[in-house]
Amino acid sequence: MTATKAAFIGLGTMGYPMAGHLATAGHEITVFNRTRTRAEAWVREHGGRLGGTPAEAAAGAHLVFTCVGNDDDLRVVVYGTDGAFAGMEEGAVLVDHTTASGLVAREVGRAAAKRGLGFLDAPMSGGEEGAKKGILTIMVGGAPETFAKAEPVIGAYARAVTLMGPVGSGQLTKMVNQICCVGIIQGLAEGLNFALRAGLDANKVVDVISKGAAQSWQMDNRARTMIEDRFDFGFAVDWMLKDMRIVLAEAGENGAQVPVATLVEGYLARLQEQGAGRLDHTALIRLLGEA
Ligand SMILES: NC(=O)c1ccc[n+]([C@@H]2O[C@H](COP(=O)([O-])OP(=O)(O)OC[C@H]3O[C@@H](n4cnc5c(N)ncnc54)[C@H](OP(=O)(O)O)[C@@H]3O)[C@@H](O)[C@H]2O)c1
Repeated sequence: MTATKAAFIGLGTMGYPMAGHLATAGHEITVFNRTRTRAEAWVREHGGRLGGTPAEAAAGAHLVFTCVGNDDDLRVVVYGTDGAFAGMEEGAVLVDHTTASGLVAREVGRAAAKRGLGFLDAPMSGGEEGAKKGILTIMVGGAPETFAKAEPVIGAYARAVTLMGPVGSGQLTKMVNQICCVGIIQGLAEGLNFALRAGLDANKVVDVISKGAAQSWQMDNRARTMIEDRFDFGFAVDWMLKDMRIVLAEAGENGAQVPVATLVEGYLARLQEQGAGRLDHTALIRLLGEA
């Protein structure tokens, strides 16, 4: 694959290793991070260049990647005189890996088209571990010709990259992923809490039932830490609450019934109020210990 001139904006938990894989694959990378020290650390580790603003980082890049927190963060790094769009040249493509709303994806997609730029909404699944190992699953919305430009480069940090439909389809697919995840995690929390209250050996229960129909990624990877009451890692309550609110807003538009997601949104909000926003969202089990 030919080396590409690319920019990466947002070197957080996910973005830092993802940008690292691009550099390792031989692409010419300029990075921007709001907290500059993190971008400096990335350049020390991987080489490449540092942009003072998203616009500066994006100047001359064929592909510009963003991976920030939410809808408003995306607008901050894309629009305005310092935003990525201001630095991008006609024909360049913005690939957004933020988990954001379908609304903002369509809005940024329209703004990109007006400037002669391509846009792909490309949220991901696989967590910090998937980003570090370069084995993320990426679900993409956008035009096929735009996807064709970005897909081989995204392959540096993904094991599956799938075009789901027009702009916004990536975010909608990620919403389905999150609806499924919260249902499974809440079910796992209730099952494990039940096992503990019933006086069973919860680890032994997991050993047995994980070989049957109740098996899931969550059971294999999170049941032990839930039993041990350990949540200092993983995907934060704050992030899952943001994602549930995106789901509920979209369901309000398309009429889908999401009773479990609605319940879990309330539980996550309670955890956040209790100051547990940065804990892994499997801390949902803690609420079952409340009187
Ligand atoms: N972590 C996961 O397991 C996971 C899995 C799948 C999807 N996601 C999604 O991926 C996205 C990023 O997650 P993460 O875990 O990498 O988050 P993170 O560690 O909090 O990093 C967020 C990044 O966005 C930057 N940022 C936030 N607001 C900004 C703003 N207003 N202007 C400029 N930069 C801003 C932050 O800069 P600073 O360094 O200055 O704060 C940081 O680089 C989120 O949408 C999340 O839902 C995360």
